[in-house]
Amino acid sequence: MSQSLNAPQHFVNQVIGQQSGSLNKLMPVKAQGYGIAPVNIALSKYWGKRDTVLNLPMNGSVSISLPGLGTETTITLQPTTQNSPPPIDQIKLNGQALKPNNPFCVRLSAFLDLFRQKNHAFYINTHNTVPTAAGLASSASGYAALVLALNDLFQWQLSTQKLSLLARLGSGSASRSLYSGFALWHKGEQADGLDSYAEPIDTQWPELCVGLVKVNVQQKPVSSTTGMQNTVKTCDLYQAWPQQAKKDMQSILNAIEQQDFEQLGQTAEHNALSMHATMMATWPPIVYWQPESVAAMHTVWQLRQQGVAVYFTMDAGPNLKLLFLKTEKPAIEQAFGDISIIQPFKGQS
Ligand code: PMV
Repeated sequence: MSQSLNAPQHFVNQVIGQQSGSLNKLMPVKAQGYGIAPVNIALSKYWGKRDTVLNLPMNGSVSISLPGLGTETTITLQPTTQNSPPPIDQIKLNGQALKPNNPFCVRLSAFLDLFRQKNHAFYINTHNTVPTAAGLASSASGYAALVLALNDLFQWQLSTQKLSLLARLGSGSASRSLYSGFALWHKGEQADGLDSYAEPIDTQWPELCVGLVKVNVQQKPVSSTTGMQNTVKTCDLYQAWPQQAKKDMQSILNAIEQQDFEQLGQTAEHNALSMHATMMATWPPIVYWQPESVAAMHTVWQLRQQGVAVYFTMDAGPNLKLLFLKTEKPAIEQAFGDISIIQPFKGQS
């Protein structure tokens, strides 16, 4: 699909309602904007873009957000002087000022270019309660929190659906981090990308637990953006992925609706392993797994043989996320020892 270079800017202008001659939507109304968003774990995954400029996915996906784990961000506009050099954003991550050439800053500043007027620089202070770039989806909560902070700074008062569209441009999975509970990110059909946003799924599942098995919290070797682009380009197996992803997404939606845990777990695990199969069949190969990841998988399969209903899912990293119901908590704690367990709907029923 051919895209003009300013397609993301045009997209942002459409979403925020920035038109020439109308009220300037990029003038801050408050001194500081604030946003907070949770991480989300995909139960049926997004892997592959059909449009790399507008960040449009090849397939839809369904996720669950994890309350208490995520990103909190404040944003302020730096004072500017006339004839000042090009703006340099100041970015603090977890209390530490980052150098502007840090890849994290380069990516963030490129995203902020879509929301800045000439000579404006931003000061961003962001805190993650999950290790950055460890396959625990901090970019999802990060871009969702940033978009919420921008919405607050500029007082756009956009609907969550529109904020989801903007977050998608920063990181696809961020489109789902605007919501608590389950969320569905629509693949969308339109070339302009305005129908590819996430929506909440209005179902609670109080018994559902997510366990985080932390194998390695270091920076991942291949970013998901690079990884999925190489997969789409070089992996023959990938041709089968969009069809399976569609089928799995429907199965996860049905499982949520009917509170069918076996179906949810089986589909999520199968979907994650299928995604990783396409990664491994990419050239150069992408293998996010560590020996400890495989050992944890075997523990899950052994537990299932013993009658414990537990399944796993994995993203672009070596860590496993376990899915089980509250009744299995003691068995999981016994098998995995040091594991963080989250009940996404606790206290909401
Ligand atoms: O949002 P991105 O570009 O970081 O891609 C996320 C991809 C996976 O985490 C592997 C799957 C998903 O749906 O979250």
